[in-house]
Amino acid sequence: MIPKEEILKALGEVKHPGMEDRSILELGMVDGIEQEEGKISVTLAFPRKPDPLKNYLTGAVKASLYRAVPGGTEIEVRTIVREAPKPKAPELTLDELRNVRHIIGIASGKGGVGKSTVAVNLAIALARQGFRVGLADADIYGPSVPLMTGTVGAVLPAEQQDGKEIIIPAEKYGVKWVSIGYFADPSQALIWRGPMACGALKQMILQVRWGELDYLLIDMPPGTGDIHISLLQEIPMEGAVIVTTPQKVALADVEKGVDMFRNKNINRPVFGLVENMAWFTPAEHPDEKYYIFGKDGGAEMAKHFDIPLLARIPLVKSICEGGDSGVPPALGSGPDGEAFLQLAAQLAARMG
Ligand SMILES: Nc1ncnc2c1ncn2[C@@H]1O[C@H](COP(=O)(O)OP(=O)(O)O)[C@@H](O)[C@H]1O
Ligand SMILES: [Mg+2]
Repeated sequence: MIPKEEILKALGEVKHPGMEDRSILELGMVDGIEQEEGKISVTLAFPRKPDPLKNYLTGAVKASLYRAVPGGTEIEVRTIVREAPKPKAPELTLDELRNVRHIIGIASGKGGVGKSTVAVNLAIALARQGFRVGLADADIYGPSVPLMTGTVGAVLPAEQQDGKEIIIPAEKYGVKWVSIGYFADPSQALIWRGPMACGALKQMILQVRWGELDYLLIDMPPGTGDIHISLLQEIPMEGAVIVTTPQKVALADVEKGVDMFRNKNINRPVFGLVENMAWFTPAEHPDEKYYIFGKDGGAEMAKHFDIPLLARIPLVKSICEGGDSGVPPALGSGPDGEAFLQLAAQLAARMG
């Protein structure tokens, strides 16, 4: 009998040229070694059928063993196909949401209407009114929560629990924040597509130590595509708040948003509409209102879809600056912050 170490040593010398010249042992390709008097059988496992190097590798194994063992020993190399075990994705459960009272999607028919601005300021305004609040920024196309809350680059720790990683949210301004932006470089977020994006998003909402919350807001990606439907099917959102600007052309976008929630497979209520950029007020003339996108657009839309108009948020420089500086206006007591506090009060009154 030939000592096993010698056989292993000979096998360790066989490198796979298609796998950065790592040895077949290291690659886990040696499935079995058997010995009987005068004969050694080695079984090589290949991950997929047409490995172009199969013949080369069986030959190389034979040659290496022939060199290592006494002359006259018969060498047999068998091959089998063994699929590499796929890493099993941990089962996502709703466990972490069990102490969350209301999960509300903040949606818009299209981007740039101020959905994130409203979501972030609404979260802070609800927290200022004594509610326990979390916000998950699920906008894979442009996660803006890190910038808007001054938490860019935050590293969220994770805890292992029953073989799952549970993310600990960032906390600032009395709100728990999680953003896809903490996990991916914003330039890479754009290449996320379909199932990959959905999986990451669900994990980012479901596997978070939210604890006890009155409100969990979900800043949804703009638009009304497959990702939205999938999110709505798997995250138990109670309903939605839709953000729009007052222009007549925005009506079609709002309609898409409303339809998405009301369609028969989803069937969730739209709790209300937020009219953002309802009018422009210059900083130096706080009493003046310029209806640059038209007057009462939001009220008309709300009537058209039979949903309440929860708030009208003015277009003011401080809101834009607050977004860029990471200090949202809902923290302050100016008229801009007041608009968000009123929105929070309106929503809370409806949700009970
Ligand atoms: N009411 C407002 N007044 C001034 N600027 C605003 C207002 N709402 C949004 N903005 C600015 O408009 C831009 C787009 O807003 P954002 O919330 O990121 O939109 P969305 O999430 O819908 O894409 C941001 O720069 C934001 O600061
Ligand atoms: Mg946004």
